[in-house]
Amino acid sequence: MADTVIKTEALTKIFERGRKREIVALDRVDLEVRRGEVFGLLGPNGAGKTTLIRLLVGLLTPTSGRAFVLGRDVTQDIDYIRERVALLPQEAGIYERLTARENLVYYGGLYGIPEDELNRRADRLLDIIGLTDRQHHQVKSFSGGMKRKVLVARALIIEPELVFLDEPTTGVDTLGARVVRNMLKKLSSQENRTIVLTTHDLHEVSELCDRVGILNKGQLVAVGKPNELEDKFKAANLEEVFTALVTGEGLEA
Ligand SMILES: Nc1ncnc2c1ncn2[C@@H]1O[C@H](COP(=O)(O)OP(=O)(O)O)[C@@H](O)[C@H]1O
Ligand SMILES: [Mg+2]
Repeated sequence: MADTVIKTEALTKIFERGRKREIVALDRVDLEVRRGEVFGLLGPNGAGKTTLIRLLVGLLTPTSGRAFVLGRDVTQDIDYIRERVALLPQEAGIYERLTARENLVYYGGLYGIPEDELNRRADRLLDIIGLTDRQHHQVKSFSGGMKRKVLVARALIIEPELVFLDEPTTGVDTLGARVVRNMLKKLSSQENRTIVLTTHDLHEVSELCDRVGILNKGQLVAVGKPNELEDKFKAANLEEVFTALVTGEGLEA
């Protein structure tokens, strides 16, 4: 249990739309994520990825089922969880007029981290994201990939045990996405943090993630290491597994 950072039991979220229409955004999901792993939540648009993350950080309440983060129930101990968990939302905004460094330090200051400690963390993170040279430039002059890196670093300034990155490379061009992926690789090897990221990019998952969960229409349809899933579904690559599970074509597991 000490090594489990996320555990959900039949976690369900239903959105009411009008009096009759219901959307089952998450349907009885049982998930376990272990300390130190990079876990990828993969699924097409509308699969429920963002909803799952929002439930795990207390931005939504479950309709039924349970969710534990760092051993605490999200409906009971959300303050404990929020102090130790960071979220980079899908539509995160950055302070364009602040410099890269100011973005990190300002955000960390909101959490009451002392200035000298904040400076040490900022130095290290700027080095990891490769922006030490540009740290005093206003972020508005940065490319999409560079901005995204600053946002990821900003989420990490609180030294969270667990970090959720909701589509960290979506909307960033190919080159920028590569830059962000390389940074995430470096982070996962240098820092012993648990990273949960969502994506609809299969290559991203196979490149970065120790384990993957595939969500489709609110259901967790497969969980495992990328190569385990390929074996299980007798597929040549993750793309085939994904296509089979999401479209129902050629499934043999
Ligand atoms: N606040 C909301 N109110 C109503 N429906 C929502 C809300 N948030 C998400 N949904 C619906 O729940 C489903 C899952 O959405 P989401 O979790 O955003 O999927 P993903 O992140 O995988 O693209 C979608 O059908 C979406 O329209
Ligand atoms: Mg989403």
